[in-house]
Formats: sequence, structure tokens, C-alpha cells
Amino acid sequence: MTTAPTPTPATTTDPLSLIDIDHIRFYVGNAKQAAYFYAYTFGFTIEQYEDLTTGSREQATYLLTQGNIRLLLTSGITPGHPAQEEVRRFGDGVKDVSMTVHNAEASYERAIKNGAISDLEPVTWSDENGSVTRASIKTYGRVVHSFVSRTGSYALPNIKKGGMFAPGFAKMNDIWVNQYNKDNPCGLLYTDHLVGNVELGKMNYWVKWYEDVLEFKMFKHFDDEDISTEYSALMSKVMTSGNNLIKMPINEPAEGKRKSQIQEYLEWHDMTPGVQHLAFRNDDEISSVAELSRRGVDFLYVPKSYYDEVWDRVAKLGWDVKEDHERIRDLGILVDADDEGYLLQLFTKPLQDRPTLFIEIICRRGSQSFGKGNFKALFESLEREQDRRGNL
Ligand code: FE2
Repeated sequence: MTTAPTPTPATTTDPLSLIDIDHIRFYVGNAKQAAYFYAYTFGFTIEQYEDLTTGSREQATYLLTQGNIRLLLTSGITPGHPAQEEVRRFGDGVKDVSMTVHNAEASYERAIKNGAISDLEPVTWSDENGSVTRASIKTYGRVVHSFVSRTGSYALPNIKKGGMFAPGFAKMNDIWVNQYNKDNPCGLLYTDHLVGNVELGKMNYWVKWYEDVLEFKMFKHFDDEDISTEYSALMSKVMTSGNNLIKMPINEPAEGKRKSQIQEYLEWHDMTPGVQHLAFRNDDEISSVAELSRRGVDFLYVPKSYYDEVWDRVAKLGWDVKEDHERIRDLGILVDADDEGYLLQLFTKPLQDRPTLFIEIICRRGSQSFGKGNFKALFESLEREQDRRGNL
């Protein structure tokens, strides 16, 4: 089995050396309202914004933060803004998975030389406090990757401490929900991985694209023979950045015992690839899931029969789950293991009315995998429940 590569620090000499996930930008129908949804349900702080009152004449954006996660929620406010057209076709979802680099222009040029298609040539916004440079390339479907480099007070270490995100942004006034979230933390720390759904037969194309253009490597590989295919109706390969900062599994639909969830996503996403889920990491799955559930996050239903087998499955791999088993069962948390350890995970239902983007809440205890053992376990537990009802 593959061992997790050891992360190495970003170097300044390599233009595609990534420092961090700078931010993840969503295009949404109504950024002002979406900001409150993510604040109330997932515990994000609504930190900064740009809109008509700050001189932003084309779009409104809200910066939401939690741990080292930065989300930008953007709506077009003019009929011609591209976010309007995208929301019409795809609904709310992820537009840009953006990476902090040392020199956005150099990263962009290298990616273009490697075969990327441009989405935005380098642009710099600056004021007396510093500058932010952004350049973007197109990846699968609706999604782009921006390279972002920052100077002065806009440098990443300052942003992490609550400094201004970019020229033109303004701080939110004190709002009740921000204080509430401080008092009742959800414990989300950073983006563990993010998953893209691509068209049937295109997985290997996009794997090669990440290898060629962004100089990523394959992290783990499940193929046709893998048991997960039969039960999950998907094939998946995991790409990782050179320094192992970002892990990006890529799914394509496959034949299985159930209708492919990837196919369903594509059908409701104008047959266009996009981000299927963002996985947010925590260090205490029980506390995070309990708090998120209390706030009304709609998690996937896990049948109680799942827990008939789960502890044995994990024990067979040599691991003893330290967390309270009863609490795990009550909260419906999923458990998986590999030869490096175990993990706790749970998936939300789609976050919008279309069955597209959802969020995963994950805690790793050594395991570096993505929970593929749960496909079979969930499928079999649903069958056991069906059997108990006499309907199998
Ligand atoms: Fe995941």
C-alpha cells in the first residue's frame, strides 16, 4: 500500500511550489444570504466584504474564515457578470481553488508553458499597504485555479491573523453570529482534500493534466478491480501537489450496484465537471459533528446496522478506535481504516437544492486514505436494513 509522502516546505525557486490554499471561491446566487448560511450552520466567521458600499460595482464578495480555511462567496450584481450565467447553469458551487505562491506571474507562465489554458492574465491590485497579484488557469469544467502572490500587509501570515484580504475589502462590523461562533466553535481547521467530478472516461485525462500542468503526482490509486467501484459506482485517482499541500481526488462515473452518484451530479450540473465535495479537517470529530448537527447541518443518514460490523472491520486492520463508540454511533459518524491508522468522517447532504456540492467533516488518526471501505460497508448495512424489513 502507498505510504503518505512526507510534506516538504515550499521553495522559492520552483514557480509551481505552493505555499497554501489561498482561498476557495464560490459563485452563489446571493452572497449576502449565503454568508449567513455558512456562518450559522458551519461556524464560519464573516470577516470582510466588498460590495457597492465599498466601490465594487460588478460583484459582491464575503470572506468567511475558520481555522486556516478561507472561503470567498461571490455574486454578480450586474446582468453580464459571469457569476450570474454560472449560477443559472450550475447553481451555487465552487468556482476557484486558489493557491498562494511566491510569484503569481511566474507560476502562471510556467503552467501556461506546461499546457494550461488561461482564464485570467496576471493582474495586480495595490495600495499604500501592499499588493495582491492574481492569475488564473482553467481546469476541469467550470473550475479555475488562481495563483495568488501577496506583499506588504496583504501577505498571507497577516491575512491569517485577520489582516485585510485584498485592496478594496472592508471589515464586517461586529455581528452577533461571529461572537456566537467564537463561543461555540465547530472546530474546522483546514481543507484536507477537495474532490472533482469529471465526465465518463475523462479521469485519466485530468490526472495527466495535473501531472503535466501543475506538476502534481498520483497519491493513491483505486482502479477497476477495486471493491469500491462495485459499490460506489465511481472510479477515483488522487492527485497531490509536489509538497503534498493539496490533495485532489478526481472521480469519474462507473458501473456499480447503484446508480452512479457522479452521473447524478453531472446531470444536475449541466453535464459539466465541477467540485463534488470539500473535506474540512478537525481534530475532534465527535465535538465537530455534534456541534454542526445541533446547528442543523443535514448529514447523510447512516443506518444503525452499519455499527454491527464497523468495530471488527477496523480491529482486523489492527486499530482500536479511541473515541467513544456509543457517541460515534449516536451521531452516525463513519469509520474507516488502512495500514497506517483509522479515520472518522461524515458527509453532509448537498448544500443546495441541486444534488451537487457537499461537505465532508474528517478527522485522521494516522490513516491517509479517503474512506473507500465505507462504500461497501454502507451498501451492505442498507441491505441488512432492507432484509430486516423483508424487502430484499
Ligand atoms: Fe472525501
